[in-house]
Amino acid sequence: MRNIPGMKKILPGENLGIYEIVSQLGICGGMSIAYKARIIGTEHFVALKVVPAKCSDNYDVKKWERRVIALDWESNICDTLGNHPNITKYHGKGKTNDCFYVGFDFFNGRDLETIIELRETPLHKVIPVKRAVNIVKKVADGLDFIHNKGIVHKDIKCGNILVKGKNVKIIDFGLAYDLNNVDSNPKCPANIFLGTIEYAPPEYLRGTRAHPSGDIYSLGASLFHALTGETPFQHEMEGMCFLFDDADFELLASRLSSLAPHVPEDVRRVCLKALEKSPENRYQSARQFSEALNDVLKGIYSSSGTSS
Ligand SMILES: Nc1ncnc2c1ncn2[C@@H]1O[C@H](COP(=O)(O)OP(=O)(O)O)[C@@H](O)[C@H]1O
Ligand SMILES: [Mg+2]
Repeated sequence: MRNIPGMKKILPGENLGIYEIVSQLGICGGMSIAYKARIIGTEHFVALKVVPAKCSDNYDVKKWERRVIALDWESNICDTLGNHPNITKYHGKGKTNDCFYVGFDFFNGRDLETIIELRETPLHKVIPVKRAVNIVKKVADGLDFIHNKGIVHKDIKCGNILVKGKNVKIIDFGLAYDLNNVDSNPKCPANIFLGTIEYAPPEYLRGTRAHPSGDIYSLGASLFHALTGETPFQHEMEGMCFLFDDADFELLASRLSSLAPHVPEDVRRVCLKALEKSPENRYQSARQFSEALNDVLKGIYSSSGTSS
């Protein structure tokens, strides 16, 4: 199992409060480690994000505290959200022997990025149109729920969408922004962008404050990725501003049709509207985005399924 340098190793069978560690799921953005765990004595599983205890004397205590504050922020956001079928369910948090941990109900699915990577069609990696639209519609429903609570997710991407059969869950509220209490949001050093550049709306890269329309763009980028096997822009760190000039956005439509000629026109139109450069030209709410996806789904289902 991988570890964060300077932090104590956590092994299967170890107990953290009411939880028993089963296996490691991944290292969360270098900030915490995700484990599969069970509530001791039950078969109720959770995904446990953990900031392990410090194990070396010269370990930067401030860094450890920042990690705990970041994970605590995520837990507080998820605690206030409540339940929705398309949001991972918050379970609780705790601190034991200098270990801080936050639990979410375990969802036995696979993230959409991995699903794309594992698909190998004769041309390239793509998700069938109906399936992609169905998944993204459910994410839009989850986003509508969180936006109505005044929360912006800020890191919507295929890697943060878990899928199993018809069930879809948004995970990872580590970068979420609380519009209800703007001053309480974690401070980010000036000129530093936190998030995933390939899915980030252009205005965020210029330092604009988080807004629900940013999530709509990121979900549009996720739909683009699922339909074509590629993100809308292939970013390099240099030339980022150049990549976001008007010409690039004009190129998106032809890029989408050349990468995925099998995608029906109305699905392309919906995807490109979510990916508009100006927030005011995108869907004005996740609900509107979801309804537009629902309309194209009706069209796909009535046209004898040739596009899937
Ligand atoms: N509720 C959950 N159920 C199952 N697996 C989860 C759950 N939440 C997170 N994971 C797994 O843990 C990984 C890391 O979690 P995530 O919250 O995305 O953190 P980060 O992106 O910061 O690394 C995810 O990619 C996923 O594989
Ligand atoms: Mg993640």
